[in-house]
Amino acid sequence: MTERGAVVTIDGPAGSGKSSTARAVAQSLGYRHLDSGALFRAVTLGLLRSGIPEEQWSEVSLEQLEEMRIQLVPSGTGFDVEMDGDIVDKALRGPEVTQRVPKVARIPAVRDWLLRRQRAAAKGGGVVVDGRDTGSVVFPDASVKVFLTAGIEERARRRLLQDQEEGQEPPSMRAVRREAERLAERDRQDETREIAPLRRPEGAIEVDTTGLSFEEQVARVVEAVRRWG
Ligand code: DC
Repeated sequence: MTERGAVVTIDGPAGSGKSSTARAVAQSLGYRHLDSGALFRAVTLGLLRSGIPEEQWSEVSLEQLEEMRIQLVPSGTGFDVEMDGDIVDKALRGPEVTQRVPKVARIPAVRDWLLRRQRAAAKGGGVVVDGRDTGSVVFPDASVKVFLTAGIEERARRRLLQDQEEGQEPPSMRAVRREAERLAERDRQDETREIAPLRRPEGAIEVDTTGLSFEEQVARVVEAVRRWG
């Protein structure tokens, strides 16, 4: 391992386990995890709170973005997202934000602003970033790039299990199919957008996690980083 540490990018579709994998990889390597999706969600929350009519969001200016006072604050083995001095976490995951974030992720000014935020946070390395374009656009020179995939029904099942309270019955086939349809629509939106579409970055290692346990998928990425160092 060099002194500065690697920049590791993990991209992939919704529900492929990017964030949980990135968090565990960062912990295992003593790195910091940067969840770039949380930044897109924070901007969406900021837009909802700003009172700017939704049909004008695509014209949001850099000044308006700055006014949201979104900050990445190092915390434990990750970063907290702060907005106007408060840590936002739960609010980023609510349906109001989740529904609108794909639209916000297509706004060039937002992507440009967040790109600079991500690069600043990863300065010096020792960071595992997860998202949709982190290996292709944000960190094209990353030390190790991973593209995480999984079958759509598997991704749907994981998503539903993640949202469940402990002790609940496993999700029904019907619920899994419904969630898979929703994910397919998210994939379509993320893959067909003109700006930074979801695709496997050049030079990325593809890890299909369908048949892997969580520990196995984390170990594959950790091994790749160790090979790099
Ligand atoms: O991973 P997530 O569900 O938190 O991502 C939220 C949205 O942000 C999703 O529509 C894709 C978008 N996103 C993106 O366009 N680029 C990234 N690097 C990360 C997320």
